[in-house]
Amino acid sequence: MQSFVQENPTRIWFGEGQIKQLQQELGSAGKRVLLVYGGGSIKANGVYKAVKEQLEHRQAEVFELSGVEPNPRLTTVNKGIEICRDKQIELILAVGGGSVIDCVKAISAGAYYEGDFWDIVTRQAVPTRAIPFGTVLTLAATGSEMNNISVITHWERNEKRGWSSRLAYPKFSILDPTYTHSVPMDQTVYGIVDMMSHVLEQYFHRTSNTTMIDRFMESVLLTVIEAAPMLLADLHNTDFRAAVMYAGTTAFNGLLSSGTDGGDWASHQIEHGLSAIYDIPHGGGLAILFPNWMQHCAEDDPSRMTKLAVNVFGIDSAGKTDYEIASEGILALRNFWNSLGAPSKLGDYGIDASRFDELVEKSFMKDKVGQYKIMTRETVKDILMRSLS
Ligand code: NZQ
Ligand code: ZN
Repeated sequence: MQSFVQENPTRIWFGEGQIKQLQQELGSAGKRVLLVYGGGSIKANGVYKAVKEQLEHRQAEVFELSGVEPNPRLTTVNKGIEICRDKQIELILAVGGGSVIDCVKAISAGAYYEGDFWDIVTRQAVPTRAIPFGTVLTLAATGSEMNNISVITHWERNEKRGWSSRLAYPKFSILDPTYTHSVPMDQTVYGIVDMMSHVLEQYFHRTSNTTMIDRFMESVLLTVIEAAPMLLADLHNTDFRAAVMYAGTTAFNGLLSSGTDGGDWASHQIEHGLSAIYDIPHGGGLAILFPNWMQHCAEDDPSRMTKLAVNVFGIDSAGKTDYEIASEGILALRNFWNSLGAPSKLGDYGIDASRFDELVEKSFMKDKVGQYKIMTRETVKDILMRSLS
């Protein structure tokens, strides 16, 4: 186990009816609030009304930014920054999924940065101050509600990149599972794939003596694997929504990397290239890439895949080589995601090999791709080729 610091300043209010805690959270914040949301789902499902009631009760002066895109764009971040400066916003409230939250993280830090916010995304500048923000989560997937990461797309350049800062933790997040009842089947599946992928990225580490953290990770995966089919058969079931929501937050709030080298993350890096060029859902891209990345890596060193196969997918190891056990586990993961209706090949999105070279370059925007296995341009291309069909 490696030395580590565990710190997470986000206060989580979890459960049905927790929206009333917004009163308390607003109490310590200023009254000029920017409410940020996406394309309108919160108006259709009543969440907007519930949030507005709380804001009105506090006599907050509310300004709005709507239309945050899935895969949020720099242009929308800039609109939010303008409003914050113009209206001297004191608190930003993100109401939505990961895209809205990530956009708010960027607006919050960008409001105090004089230059182009893309400088911060590309690490040419570091944020020094941020407007406090909170979130009301409506989709279980990214974990953005309790982490300090934000992923922004520069659409004109077809670049999608993550940035992080200690200033990018939400001050509070309200997680009411009933607010996710209206998430449609496909987005529910993408969210499940994304949160499982977050655990898997962290599971593929090379640190020894990590028994407890490994078991935490296996427990999150087992919980999602158990709840997901029941949830998909009953999308309005609050118990299943709650299980998946808490799993999604736990999957990526720092806990599961405690004492490890942090895991791999190559599949995420490759996926961000796919979303940047083809604007596909993040979870859909991961469902295609991740099993192919696992199979590619298992050919060199199947040890962690073998452990996953036995402990999570219950693969019988008797009389089999490590590689055979690992391969059966990978197949079980593929079959599980396919059974939920997730895509399994790039062709499902009409993507062919014509832009693979560009995709490879996009994966290498950071110096290093992967950690469990350090990728080269050739190995990234191999994973894309395996993902074609
Ligand atoms: O825009 P609206 O109308 O709200 O509709 C959204 C959107 O179309 C809809 N939706 C959300 N809540 C709903 C709902 N529809 C009905 N009922 C509800 N309660 O779902 C669609 C997708 O929303 P989005 O926020 O884009 O999904 P998600 O939460 O999966 O976020 C994806 C983004 O997060 C990034 C991804 O790359 C992508 O840009 N990620 C962020 C991470 C982080 N900050 O830690 C890590 C992840 O690995 C990921 O990269
Ligand atoms: Zn993800």
